[in-house]
Amino acid sequence: MPDDSVQLHLTSIPYNVGKSYGDSDTIDRRRHHFYLGFMLQTLSEMTRTLAPGGVLFLQVGSTRIDDGGLMPLDCVLLEHLRAMGLTYQNRVVWTILHGLTPRAPGRTPRSRADTQQRRAGALQRQCRAYSPKTAGQACL
Ligand SMILES: C[S@@+](CC[C@H](N)C(=O)[O-])C[C@H]1O[C@@H](n2cnc3c(N)ncnc32)[C@H](O)[C@@H]1O
Repeated sequence: MPDDSVQLHLTSIPYNVGKSYGDSDTIDRRRHHFYLGFMLQTLSEMTRTLAPGGVLFLQVGSTRIDDGGLMPLDCVLLEHLRAMGLTYQNRVVWTILHGLTPRAPGRTPRSRADTQQRRAGALQRQCRAYSPKTAGQACL
């Protein structure tokens, strides 16, 4: 895709939590830094193709790191996205029944541990070098 050509990217990236996608049981089960590098390549391409003032809407959950712990992906990615020239705009958080271990229809969660938070971040590509005077203004 050409540089600066897209007004909106909307994506739900894989989380690297061991989900089985299509015919692969290993594609979502990478070492954390391998997965992180793959996601940064993908997000870098989205940033390159985003027009100045364009928006990246990024849906994420948590990723599993190499010691088995969970890390919120928006926190893992934010500094990288800023370094790519994106400005954080907003965050949407919603709580759902745990998405990776679905329960029978109609069954309600027994505890907070049965629910999972999903987050979506909106980030805007900067129009120009950052200036406090113009921060937050739309590109003209
Ligand atoms: C969290 S899901 C998003 C699903 C999508 N929003 C939808 O509603 O169909 C992540 C998606 O990334 C895809 N995916 C995972 N690893 C991939 C890879 N290495 N290359 C290309 N796509 C991949 C999966 O097949 C899956 O469709």
